[in-house]
Amino acid sequence: MEFTDLIQKRYSVRAYKPDPVQDSELQAVLDAARLAPTAANRQPFQIVVVHTAGREKELQRIYSRAWFTQAPLLICICGVPARAWIRKDGKNYADVDVTIAMDHLILAAANLGLGTCWVAAFDPPAAREILRLPEDIEPIAFTPLGYPADQPDSKDRKALAQLVRYEHW
Ligand SMILES: Cc1cc2nc3c(=O)[nH]c(=O)nc-3n(C[C@H](O)[C@H](O)[C@H](O)COP(=O)(O)O)c2cc1C
Repeated sequence: MEFTDLIQKRYSVRAYKPDPVQDSELQAVLDAARLAPTAANRQPFQIVVVHTAGREKELQRIYSRAWFTQAPLLICICGVPARAWIRKDGKNYADVDVTIAMDHLILAAANLGLGTCWVAAFDPPAAREILRLPEDIEPIAFTPLGYPADQPDSKDRKALAQLVRYEHW
């Protein structure tokens, strides 16, 4: 898809078909995350891929909406703060790096006709327990990955004038 079409067409999918995601498609979206830029190229993230089949009830302890486990796959991107670049004022960039990786993954998925939805409102202790994450690995965001079974709403966005200030133009 042309990039401007892609960013228009991507939306948060909150209903999924049970159709399987081909392994080649999964590998393509994971590779898009791998290619994301990270601060000082530290690549301080880990991606956990979960098959939802048969684990719906357990996985809904992480996030209780039915659509969270409707797609065949669930992806969690975790930050590894100890491996991230830290600015001299102490700011750790792991979350920023994870966010860019997730955005790459989500746009690559949309380009293949696959649906995703960012999920940040999950239960971190449940995610840690169910995905068996060690202390130094922090779950930052989830997304289901599967074929959409809903339709996009119109995009509700602020006008550029509300978001942009041209400094000393
Ligand atoms: C960082 C982040 C966290 C989000 N967390 C959730 C979430 O927990 N649950 C949910 O239903 N949507 C979540 N969303 C989706 C947003 O609600 C959605 O992106 C926004 O309303 C714009 O709609 P669109 O994605 O369809 O363009 C999240 C989005 C982002 C970027």
